[in-house]
Amino acid sequence: MTTTPARTTAGTAPALPHWESTPEDLPGAIREVKAAIRRRIEASGRTVDEVFAVIESRVRERVAEIHADRDRGESVWPVIDYADIENGTVTAEQLAKLRRRGCLVVRGHFPREQALAWDAGIVDYVEGNGFFESYRGPGDDFFGSVGSKPEIYPIYWSPAQMEARQSERMATVQSLLNAQWRHESDGVTWFDPERDSLYPDRIRRRPPGADSNGLGAHCDPGTLDLWMTESYQRAFRHLFDGSVEDYDPWDAAHRTAGPQYPGTTMCSAFRTFQGWTALSDMAHDQGVLHTVPIPEAMAYLMLRPLLDDVPDDDMCGVTTNQVFPASERWHPLLLEALSGIPDVQAGDSVWWHCDMIHSVAPVQDQQGWGNVMYIPAAPWCERNERYAVSVRQAFLSGSSPSDFPEEHYERTWPDRFAADGLNTTGRRGLGLE
Ligand SMILES: [Fe+2]
Repeated sequence: MTTTPARTTAGTAPALPHWESTPEDLPGAIREVKAAIRRRIEASGRTVDEVFAVIESRVRERVAEIHADRDRGESVWPVIDYADIENGTVTAEQLAKLRRRGCLVVRGHFPREQALAWDAGIVDYVEGNGFFESYRGPGDDFFGSVGSKPEIYPIYWSPAQMEARQSERMATVQSLLNAQWRHESDGVTWFDPERDSLYPDRIRRRPPGADSNGLGAHCDPGTLDLWMTESYQRAFRHLFDGSVEDYDPWDAAHRTAGPQYPGTTMCSAFRTFQGWTALSDMAHDQGVLHTVPIPEAMAYLMLRPLLDDVPDDDMCGVTTNQVFPASERWHPLLLEALSGIPDVQAGDSVWWHCDMIHSVAPVQDQQGWGNVMYIPAAPWCERNERYAVSVRQAFLSGSSPSDFPEEHYERTWPDRFAADGLNTTGRRGLGLE
């Protein structure tokens, strides 16, 4: 563990202390980095309040647009047909809305029958291998409140999941999503938008009649490391040096190689978008995903702790080993924009910018199933190449990937997806060619 911060020496503005692994004295490190960021902003001739006000007014405009969409009865979430993505007929207007909102529903990403067959295949896979008899309870504390029957299945290597991950249709959508980001700058290629790293994640199957408390509003890109590591300080440089107007939530610079502080909710991969593919039809009022569909909200989350009303050793509740919370106490403006997905059908997919705040609404006596496969867009980059080493080993041995609890249910399951079923996309995604 690093206890003494290193100092960045580049540039003329006051340097920021940084910690490349979790600081031992968290309150001390928070105090130190906040004071340093404030000094750095003030060296630009602007105050922290002025800089925050720029972001606040940008966000306020977006919130007003979202209210206006709702009042007109329009979907806040952009919706694009897969056929238009495949045929290259997505309009400039649709792309502009995707970038403005940072989220997307892809209609008919897979044929409905295909998605339903995958869902049935997953049931056969887990039942045939005695999963429910051997299930030992939640392996982590994040989704741990679901009770004795799993809602999140710690299953990674079913034929259904791997077929979807390596499919042509998945690659086509991921490529469109990755293209919304700037992936090259300063002579550096930060990621390859045409090659995904097949980030393995779990399955959710929530049965009819389920009661669920949902998940509170949070975001997933990191915790204190977002303010404290050198690479994230570079990624968010415009927020910390007075050039806040230049902040671009779609710029991948310095985001795809640096370290992260470990924690139960950490994602080792860089994801341009988080996402899932629906394996059942789901109505918009049945405990579904919501986002704050404003990519610039990240700037608000990063700057809000610097204001005077937040205690010096507090980052608006962000700490290591817990999800990054968005709260009524610190972020009421952002939460006004919280918007649920429209009705989706099996085979549709749902995507949201990796920095965006999201939540899952509670539901009582759920009508119909709520089944999804989590499949993000995690393009090939230094960080994802590093993680792919352990993903490869987990794939070959049927183990839980190293980002997840060590449950390893599938090691002895004979019908898990085998290496000889990999196509070129699958092999490239796992770093096998
Ligand atoms: Fe999340």
